[in-house]
Amino acid sequence: MNMKQKLPSPLLALAVLLAIAICAAPTTAAVIRPGEVWLDTDGQPINAHGGGVLLHDGIYYWYGELKVGRTYLPGVNQKWGGTRVLAGGVSCYSSTNLNHWKKEGCVLPSNAENPDHDLACENVIERPKVLYNARTKKFVMWLHQDSPNYQAARSGVAISDKPTGPFEYLGSFRPNAGVWPVNVTPDDKLRAEKNFLARDFEGGQMARDMTLFVDDDSKAYQFYASENNSTMHVSLLTDDYLKPAGKYARIFPGRLMEAPAVFKRNAKYYLIASGCTGWDPNAARSAVADNIFGPWTELDNPCRGENAEKTFGAQSTFVLPVAGRPDIFIAMFDRWKKWDLQDSRHVWLPLEFDPEGRPTVRWQERWSLPLGGKQ
Ligand code: GAL
Repeated sequence: MNMKQKLPSPLLALAVLLAIAICAAPTTAAVIRPGEVWLDTDGQPINAHGGGVLLHDGIYYWYGELKVGRTYLPGVNQKWGGTRVLAGGVSCYSSTNLNHWKKEGCVLPSNAENPDHDLACENVIERPKVLYNARTKKFVMWLHQDSPNYQAARSGVAISDKPTGPFEYLGSFRPNAGVWPVNVTPDDKLRAEKNFLARDFEGGQMARDMTLFVDDDSKAYQFYASENNSTMHVSLLTDDYLKPAGKYARIFPGRLMEAPAVFKRNAKYYLIASGCTGWDPNAARSAVADNIFGPWTELDNPCRGENAEKTFGAQSTFVLPVAGRPDIFIAMFDRWKKWDLQDSRHVWLPLEFDPEGRPTVRWQERWSLPLGGKQ
């Protein structure tokens, strides 16, 4: 007689149902509470703002601005209300399920000793993004490096042998010095007042808010808010991902977009971004393109639900494709606290597509992402 025969039949049915339910259930349900304080596995608030996520060897690495300390308004930013904390550097957390985040520490610290260093605490270190370069086997970080009044508008690059650092800072530059964009017009080349493209031709283009995107062919691109934030540029990187390759396009001219987040679905490129209102929220933007250099077609504000017209009080930073789930994307935003920047919150929401194929992000108090164990 075997075990099966010993069980009375209703109990057997229950046991079978239970077994099926257990097998079908995801091993991890990541409960995400947008805008609440998120704790790391040590029970400390996660501090990774304006960041992005890299998936490498089954582990997600979340990099962001380390914002610690008192928020102040530097005299040079009085007019426009550009509050600051001293730059802390770039933090990193790791996770296998997008729910439990282990603090890996500060992988690119700011420099407290040398006020002339790019990464001096008084300077700006924002919107870090990290890629893995399979050719060089290096992890490459790009970030927005700036002076306290945001007038330097440069891109900084750092590399590491490991995703958890330490990253070695290579320096900063204004991208694409001496190169016209692929879609330049004769008028764009004229030296006229407020023609930042022509003004900065020799010295390199202004680069503030930025993101990185790697295409299916491993080519990487930097998107940066340029021309004093009026126009975005999309710029191909060299094969080692360390420099601009010298091919770029102007996109969304005069549209004042920042906080770019780029992703690809079904051979189309999508961008989520914000308008330009500093730490204050505005209506998100979205756009689609068949070619990464454009033309890009603007779509509507992708946000839906309460406070959608202000992006749920937040600003985009990254769109994360969930590994092994071709149509699941997480839209990552920051809810900035202008007068207490270190307490700024993370707002992650599912990004879906409406029947017309437009990206939409619906507000949810809490939601869970079924992940089948290690991704
Ligand atoms: C925002 C930008 C942030 C930060 C802030 C400073 O517009 O997206 O990354 O630079 O301005 O006020």
